[in-house]
Amino acid sequence: MSHEMPEEKLPEAHDASQGHEVAPHSDPFADPGLPAHEPRRTDIDERAAKRAERQVSLMFVVSMLATIGFIASYVIFPIDKIVFIFPIGHVSALNFALGLTLGVALFCIGAGAVHWARTLMSDHELPAERHPIEADDEVRNDVIEQFKTGAAESGFGRRKMIRNTLIGSMALVPLSGVVLLRDLGPLPEKKLDHTGWQKATPANPIPLINMNTNEPMKAEDIVIGSLTFAKPEGLEESDEDFQQNIAKDALMLVRIAPEDIKDKNSAELGFGGILAYSKICTHVGCPISLYEQQTHHALCPCHQSTFDLADGARVIFGPAGHPLPQLKITIDEKGFLVATGDFDEPVGPSFWERS
Ligand code: FES
Repeated sequence: MSHEMPEEKLPEAHDASQGHEVAPHSDPFADPGLPAHEPRRTDIDERAAKRAERQVSLMFVVSMLATIGFIASYVIFPIDKIVFIFPIGHVSALNFALGLTLGVALFCIGAGAVHWARTLMSDHELPAERHPIEADDEVRNDVIEQFKTGAAESGFGRRKMIRNTLIGSMALVPLSGVVLLRDLGPLPEKKLDHTGWQKATPANPIPLINMNTNEPMKAEDIVIGSLTFAKPEGLEESDEDFQQNIAKDALMLVRIAPEDIKDKNSAELGFGGILAYSKICTHVGCPISLYEQQTHHALCPCHQSTFDLADGARVIFGPAGHPLPQLKITIDEKGFLVATGDFDEPVGPSFWERS
C-alpha cells in the first residue's frame, strides 16, 4: 500500500539573524508508505492461535503461582536464615526468595502481555497523521472509536482464558505489597542496643580486622587521611548470621592529625588520631563510604547526611538525627588495634533508642 503525501510548496525562509534570504529546502525522499501486511501463522491457523492463547495463559498462571510463592516465602523463611547461592555467595534466604518470586510474577505478566500482542492482537499498521495537541470533539470521538476497535481486535472480551488469567495475575500481584506490611513490627526492643563489640573489655579486648585483607591492623600502618573499614575478630563471611552482625558491627576507621581533632572526648576514644566510628548512618542505616580527607567529612550516599569526623562525627548536613557512634580503641602489646568496649551509643537509625 502506498502512502503519498500531497506536495506542498514551502514558503521562502528568512534568516533574521543574518539579514538575508535563505533558499527553501524540499523533501528529497519520497514517502515509501507502509509495507504490505503479512498474516502471521496465528492469523490463518486457528490451532496456532489456540496454542498461543494457552502459552499466554500459562505465563499468567506462572505469575499467579509466583505471587503465592512470594507470600509463602514470607511465612516460611526466618528473617535471619542465610544460604549459599552459587554464584552470588551467602545471602538472606528470605530476601532471595522474595526477590526471585516477585521478579518471576512481574516478568510473567509482562512476557505474557508481549506474547499476546505479538501473536494474537491485530498487527495491521495504520498511519496516524500529526494533529494539533488540543483535539477537537470529532478527533476525540474518533480516538474513543479506535480504542473500542482495538479492544475488540485484541480479543480481550472474546478470549476468556487470557482475560481471566490476566485479571487473576494482576489481582494477586498487589498482595505482595500487602504482606510486606508485616515488616512494620515487631519493634526490635533491646536487640539493637548492643553490637558484637559488647564483649570487648580492657582485660579482654577484641582485635580490629581489616575488611579488605581480613588481617589484624597495626596502628603504624594507618596513615593520616586514610579511610579503612573494619570488623571484629571472629566475624567471618561464611557465618550464618554474618549479614545480620556486620550490619551493626561495621567500622569506619580514619586517622586525623591530632591537632585537627576538635572534639577532645572523641580524641580520647581513639588512639593517636585514629578514630573508629560506626559505618551505619544514623538516618535510616545506609552504609557510609565516602570520605573527604581535607575536610574530614564523611558522606552517606543515600540522602547526603554529612558527618564531621574531626568533631565527634557531628551531623553538619542532611536528615541524620545524631552523630555516628564511636568505638573506644587502643593498641595491644604488639601494636595491633583493639577495641575495649562497645560503641558509646546504639548504632543505626535513632528513632527508637531514645525511650
Ligand atoms: S541513610 Fe544516610 S542519609 Fe539517609
